Amino acid sequence: MSVIVGITGASGSVLAMNTVDELLRRNVATTVVCSNSARLVWEDELGVPFNETLVEWQENPNFNFYSANDMRAPIASGTHPTKAMVVVPASMNTIASIAHGITSHLVHRAADVCLKERRRLVLVPRETPLNSTHLENMLTLSRMGAVILPPEPAFYLKPQSVDDIVRFIVSRIIVALDLDEALPEEFRYEDKES
Ligand SMILES: Cc1cc2nc3c(=O)[nH]c(=O)nc-3n(C[C@H](O)[C@H](O)[C@H](O)COP(=O)(O)O)c2cc1C
Repeated sequence: MSVIVGITGASGSVLAMNTVDELLRRNVATTVVCSNSARLVWEDELGVPFNETLVEWQENPNFNFYSANDMRAPIASGTHPTKAMVVVPASMNTIASIAHGITSHLVHRAADVCLKERRRLVLVPRETPLNSTHLENMLTLSRMGAVILPPEPAFYLKPQSVDDIVRFIVSRIIVALDLDEALPEEFRYEDKES
């Protein structure tokens, strides 16, 4: 069973890239679906077209990809077994859509399926500041069982670089997906104190 990674058009493409890289490094079957807006942000933030990274991922036998318009993809149906899904980064548009069952593209539909099938759904929302609609939508999703995992740095770990922060967030995602029981020691508060 694969883990689905939905990528949407919020800031933080680097989080999506590193999450997929980490899943593949662990030999986890990984299915990616990326919204059209995510492709724009990807190129803006990472300086490479999404398709260039996609071609590299496609060399890995554990990797699978569906277009955001492909509503006939297996992951659009609850009958297709999947282990869990993460949406990283999750735009406020996507948060609103999933919260209200609006499935305008495959990221939304796959997340909707996870909720109805009571499968693990991890959402990494990115926006600041947040208005009341954003907050209410996230509360709705949390009450439906989704894990809301904002990509916030752990300043107490004294990150030295963006890469340190990204590795911490990706580790958090891996635990939230139930692929690891606990964070690695380097990311635990108590270990920093000793
Ligand atoms: C460079 C760029 C950065 C963006 N950053 C954010 C963001 O951090 N959070 C957000 O909610 N929307 C952000 N947006 C707006 C979303 O891309 C837009 O709402 C889009 O409709 C989201 O569509 P999707 O949810 O289908 O990916 C950004 C757009 C661009 C072009």
